[in-house]
Amino acid sequence: MTQFKGDDYYVNKKKEVYEMKKALAFGLALFLSFLTVNLVKAGNVSPPSVVVIDNKGYTRDKKGPVKFSHEKHVKQYKVACTECHHVYKDGKNVWKEGDPVQKCIECHSPKKVKGQLDLKRAYHKNCMGCHKKLAKEGKISVKEAKRLRKCSTCHVKKM
Ligand code: HEC
Ligand code: HEC
Ligand code: HEC
Ligand code: HEC
Repeated sequence: MTQFKGDDYYVNKKKEVYEMKKALAFGLALFLSFLTVNLVKAGNVSPPSVVVIDNKGYTRDKKGPVKFSHEKHVKQYKVACTECHHVYKDGKNVWKEGDPVQKCIECHSPKKVKGQLDLKRAYHKNCMGCHKKLAKEGKISVKEAKRLRKCSTCHVKKM
């Protein structure tokens, strides 16, 4: 029934603490590498969370810029990228997630060009086309549909 703790005890205790520290350090390293990998991954697949659409070159630029929530549309409303991003080949959209994204202005001119969908109409058709469809299918209320049609819901006031 001796209460005396010999050298062995302290040596073992020290060893135990050392092992614990090692395990913690390892755990931390693992956690950090996990974090980095996931951040990098997120950087690859996630589009910018908010896009400010403010193109130049319109014949008449009357309205203020549009703040568009990419994140809400993708994550909350579950809208597929291909509803908005496209590259047409033989009349079919061949763009897929991971492909480079060109700005709409690269293909839709801000000036009116005969036989082409100009930039303003391209945006309006895309954005409002879908919102209108939601209303028609009864997926949003009449009140919400009305709100989504209002210029000021999308366009911020011009200064
Ligand atoms: C659902 C969103 C949405 C609504 C609602 C909307 N617009 Fe737009 N509109 C856009 C986007 C996006 C652009 C592209 C902005 C840019 O390129 O700078 C745009 C561009 C424009 C442009 C050309 C660029 C400029 O800044 O002048 C005009 C004019 C315009 N809208 C007028 C209107 C008017 C008038 C209304 C209301 C009757 C309206 N829009 C409602 C999304 C919307
Ligand atoms: C509801 C429409 C919509 C959806 C859904 C959408 N995007 Fe976008 N995205 C846009 C618009 C509009 C822009 C701005 C384009 C511009 O400025 O001409 C944009 C811009 C981008 C940009 C930046 C391009 C640049 O050069 O600034 C990337 C990258 C992108 N989108 C990727 C994606 C990916 C990946 C998805 C699916 C996970 C997605 N988008 C879903 C409409 C959408
Ligand atoms: C690489 C070129 C390219 C880019 C970038 C591009 N478009 Fe288009 N877009 C086209 C072409 C070409 C058509 C005509 C396709 C057809 O009618 O066969 C088209 C058609 C459309 C249409 C009509 C399609 C329909 O179903 O009614 C809308 C709306 C549209 N684009 C909006 C956008 C928006 C918004 C962006 C940016 C987020 C964008 N486009 C980016 C080339 C492009
Ligand atoms: C394919 C469908 C689709 C397209 C394309 C689309 N939206 Fe939407 N949008 C939605 C849905 C779904 C909601 C949520 C409606 C609700 O539940 O009230 C929404 C809501 C919104 C709202 C209100 C809430 C918020 O997110 O701030 C704004 C503003 C908006 N969209 C702007 C835009 C603009 C600008 C574009 C074009 C660049 C666009 N949308 C294109 C489906 C779409």
